[in-house]
Amino acid sequence: MSDHPSETGVKSGVALPAPQIPGQPLTALAPMQDVTDLAFMGLIARYGAPDYYVTEFLRVHAQSRPEAHIVRSIDENATGRPVFAQLIGEEIPHLERTVALLLKHPVAGIDLNLGCPAPKVYKKNVGGGLLRDPDHVDAILAALRARTPGLFTVKMRIGFEDTRNFARILDSVARHRVDLLTVHGRTVKEMYRSEVHYDEIARAVRAVPCPVMANGNVTSAEAGARILAATGAAGLMCGRHAIRNPWIFRQIRERLAGAPVFAPTLGDVHGYVHALYRATAAGFYEPGGFGHGDPTARERAHVARMKKFLNFVGQSVDPDGAFLHAMRRAMSEAELFEVCARHLADHADRPFATEPYPGVVARPNCETPDADGCSLANVTA
Ligand SMILES: Cc1cc2nc3c(=O)[nH]c(=O)nc-3n(C[C@H](O)[C@H](O)[C@H](O)COP(=O)(O)O)c2cc1C
Repeated sequence: MSDHPSETGVKSGVALPAPQIPGQPLTALAPMQDVTDLAFMGLIARYGAPDYYVTEFLRVHAQSRPEAHIVRSIDENATGRPVFAQLIGEEIPHLERTVALLLKHPVAGIDLNLGCPAPKVYKKNVGGGLLRDPDHVDAILAALRARTPGLFTVKMRIGFEDTRNFARILDSVARHRVDLLTVHGRTVKEMYRSEVHYDEIARAVRAVPCPVMANGNVTSAEAGARILAATGAAGLMCGRHAIRNPWIFRQIRERLAGAPVFAPTLGDVHGYVHALYRATAAGFYEPGGFGHGDPTARERAHVARMKKFLNFVGQSVDPDGAFLHAMRRAMSEAELFEVCARHLADHADRPFATEPYPGVVARPNCETPDADGCSLANVTA
């Protein structure tokens, strides 16, 4: 709950989402482009919902209108948990216009993206690119705070190539009464695979009056408990490891309550893969969807999309990456599910590893200068 007026005279006075177990730290599913759509949010809810969700980023520029499929994830959200709408952009009038449009929908609040590391994005001075310009960040935060009567939140990395602007931006977050700050403990240049600087997240916790969510490599409930202790953060945001392990939010709650932590088996994972296939079907089989009229093309496209999710799941199936190896060769639904039967159902009682197996890397690893956006095709663990 914000109880201080903003320097701009605005005070949200709106309560943050409540944790499902009173008194526990908050959990959130990280916004992920191409992933956190209506279907995936609903799927995660079936395995143990996070306390709140954040949409994929809505692109904001002179001609932009909120993307219809992202707005759907707000309007039709049936998870029972609130969803924040995330914006990426730099031009204040267009950001303000978009906030006004989104506030007509049932959003829990407005979130600003100050972290996307894709060169095509940051070269436009949006997302992580804005971290190079703390004065402009300050102006954006002032404007969006003034235009957002409810919750206004920020998700940021710790800097662009180093942390030289971090303290100034944290000061802006504090002065403009941001209601909640998420810190992904890497610089933009560190992309997705470096160590996470939890000491910098701890620094943010000390610097701002609002709750801080820790983000980056919350790989398990145990890791989450360690990260909370190391940072003093108010909660945990999980992205890729919720794709790998959709039970993670439930497990975090159990671990923090001192209760036995659910330990999924490969049989449970087999069920998840089937549910994921059904959830990711939207867009391929709807009239006018991809490959409409050509069943083989749309099946191949669907299988290709599944592989991007299974790249993460496969990190905990076997230590040699045999499932990943076989899965990447499947072209059809039948081939894909044959691989799943062989590697998952046939070993249904074996445990699904709590942490990713060392050296079993999700591919493609495209942390390259021409990677296009924070897309699932380009971001690996
Ligand atoms: C496929 C993918 C898409 C992403 N898209 C977004 C996005 O739209 N907005 C955003 O703020 N962060 C985005 N991110 C970053 C995540 O929200 C998160 O900060 C990052 O993955 C680190 O957390 P993790 O280690 O739990 O995955 C994306 C990450 C991935 C893997």
